[in-house]
Amino acid sequence: MKNRVTVMHGINLGALDRRPSEIYGGLSLVRLEQQIGRFARELGLQARFFQSDFEGEYVQELHKAGDFSDGLILNPGAWTHYAWALRDALEVSGLPCVEVHLSDVEHREPFRRVSVLEGACIARVAGKGPDGYRDALVHLKETFTA
Ligand code: DQA
Repeated sequence: MKNRVTVMHGINLGALDRRPSEIYGGLSLVRLEQQIGRFARELGLQARFFQSDFEGEYVQELHKAGDFSDGLILNPGAWTHYAWALRDALEVSGLPCVEVHLSDVEHREPFRRVSVLEGACIARVAGKGPDGYRDALVHLKETFTA
């Protein structure tokens, strides 16, 4: 059965613990990834992690992702709202993807309501903090077993 998920964090998420804790919860990316890894194991999935602040690097990782993943979870940070190349690169990957945001992007500044990934993902989870990644893993598992 398919079970390999790559979780890709984008720009500024490497500094998660230095961003406003009332919005992002004060967690470090390392801690967040540990938590996602636990969620994945509980669901019988294997999680692999990637983070970059460089758009080209993130795009190249998407190009390669199909070699070692069955599905993707993308939280591209602010790129979500304007970096259209990410959508094209996701298409190249050919993988099912869930878009995740820790914060409730629909109810923050208006620019955060735009997502370049809209319509290209099987689901979107926002505003649920780390638990949103668990929901995303469940969505992918459903896709793998369908
Ligand atoms: C974010 C939301 C984005 O608007 C923001 O630029 C981020 C994090 C989130 O996880 O809530 O960097 O993707």
